[in-house]
Amino acid sequence: MAASAKRRRGWRKRLGALARFTGALVIVGGLYSAFAPSLYAQEAEDNAIDSEVVKGQELYDTSCISCHGDNGEGVEGRGPSLIGIGSGAVEFQVNTGRMPMAAQGAQAPSGEPVFTEEEAEWLGAYIEYLGGGAEVPDDLEILVEDADTAEGGDLYRVNCSSCHGFAGGGGALSSGAHAPDLIGVSDEELYQAMLTGPQNMPVFADNELTPEQKADIIAYVQYIVNDDKDPGGVFDLGRFGPSTEGLAIFLVGISALLLATLWIAGKS
Ligand code: HEC
Ligand code: HEC
Repeated sequence: MAASAKRRRGWRKRLGALARFTGALVIVGGLYSAFAPSLYAQEAEDNAIDSEVVKGQELYDTSCISCHGDNGEGVEGRGPSLIGIGSGAVEFQVNTGRMPMAAQGAQAPSGEPVFTEEEAEWLGAYIEYLGGGAEVPDDLEILVEDADTAEGGDLYRVNCSSCHGFAGGGGALSSGAHAPDLIGVSDEELYQAMLTGPQNMPVFADNELTPEQKADIIAYVQYIVNDDKDPGGVFDLGRFGPSTEGLAIFLVGISALLLATLWIAGKS
């Protein structure tokens, strides 16, 4: 009796182990089939991008390196840094025949493109690989949520207020151009504008303003311009804050008092 009970317990143990083993296999198999296809797809995509980058680098090394440097960092007196410029700017310059620049000069004239559009894409991919580029980060929303509005205020006053005004109201520039107000612009538009520098606006590449600093600025701009949280309180006195309003109320009050005094003096 004791022996058969032992045997039964032994069997149960073995069955239990088998069940656990099968269970583990099923889980591993499930996980594999869940992740494997996306892993393969990701790998294929990475490879495709890699090969564009490699082809771009070949073109870059023969046609651009002399003026823009080994790693796109620029060459003093020959060409600017291309770090953070993004593939869009590269494709624009190459497709309009501005680049590769034929002769050293202040401004590259447009002309017949030297490369095909596909080659321009490869060059763009390589420059983007070197230094990132004009792409709004996927997690911009989170960056802006975590942003430091006060820091953004400092950065805004240093980098943007000269053209867009202290309160984002816009302003005239020399040469008849003007910087638009920033009312109603979205986070993405703000980011894009800093990245690409449309027309007379300078580019703020990631080496000048990190994505976190850009997010700080965005948070600040949205705070002062678009959140309806007017720092001036009830009255909108140029959005210069409570002190302006205090001054205004003070002046109005003093004038009223003066008038009252004069009126009383005139009566007596
Ligand atoms: C003979 C020197 C020279 C060569 C070669 C050259 N560049 Fe340039 N590149 C310059 C100069 C100078 C500028 C700035 C002048 C301008 O923007 O008009 C410039 C500007 C650029 C810009 C714009 C940068 C910005 O801040 O907007 C891009 C993009 C660019 N080059 C890409 C390339 C690519 C890609 C190649 C190779 C296919 C190339 N360049 C070859 C001299 C050169
Ligand atoms: C040298 C002047 C100048 C500076 C500095 C400047 N901008 Fe601009 N900005 C402009 C001009 C000019 C335009 C309009 C370009 C156009 O119409 O294509 C513009 C456009 C924009 C736009 C697009 C507005 C719209 O209505 O679509 C945004 C957003 C913007 N700037 C944000 C910024 C921020 C943020 C900074 C600071 C990091 C900044 N700018 C610094 C001149 C400037």
